[in-house]
Amino acid sequence: MLEVFREKKVYEVLLVTMSNVTPIGVVRSGEKLRFKLFPGKSFREVLETGKASIQLTNDPELLVRTALNLPVEVEFEEQKGYRWIRGLPGVYGNVTSKVEHWKDNLGETEVLVCELIPKGEIRAELPTKPFSRADCLFVEMAILFTRYLVKSSEELREKIIDLYSTYKHLGGDSPTADYIFSVLTKKAQK
Ligand SMILES: Cc1cc2nc3c(=O)[nH]c(=O)nc-3n(C[C@H](O)[C@H](O)[C@H](O)COP(=O)(O)O)c2cc1C
Repeated sequence: MLEVFREKKVYEVLLVTMSNVTPIGVVRSGEKLRFKLFPGKSFREVLETGKASIQLTNDPELLVRTALNLPVEVEFEEQKGYRWIRGLPGVYGNVTSKVEHWKDNLGETEVLVCELIPKGEIRAELPTKPFSRADCLFVEMAILFTRYLVKSSEELREKIIDLYSTYKHLGGDSPTADYIFSVLTKKAQK
């Protein structure tokens, strides 16, 4: 399974822990998958249990809604303390992690630097779904929006609104994208 990940490339996947699902960017290094977690539920659960699953998806709605902790329609399977979403391919395994100090333009925080060593494979097939530019913009909007929620700035707000405008132009019609836009435009009216 790991061979689908080219080394050095960042892949957007789903991290499934004890009670949470969130998108993360992973990079393969040999037989391991590396990722970073900023403070939140996944950070706490990985630190607490040392177990997680990493699953592939080609559904931008699932990546974005889990990032924003909005409800999603998925079913879970469990085995020996590992948990994953039914129907999505991936791996489960133990996570070694260490807390480090992090500083960027959003400020200073802690980051959990993690490595998952696969223990087993989750077998499933991704649904047939063509590639859309609108989906790329939607995911990019969501990444910037999660940053905006940590530290808002006018520059970031305008960037997301710009992406939304191109997204609509390219046929994007997700109510979740409309939700992001509505939050950003409501804030501006205050
Ligand atoms: C495509 C995508 C990729 C993301 N990758 C990461 C990541 O690698 N690490 C991280 O801490 N947050 C990442 N985020 C942001 C988290 O999903 C978001 O902050 C979430 O609220 C995490 O909190 P939780 O663990 O409490 O669910 C990403 C968001 C998106 C939309």
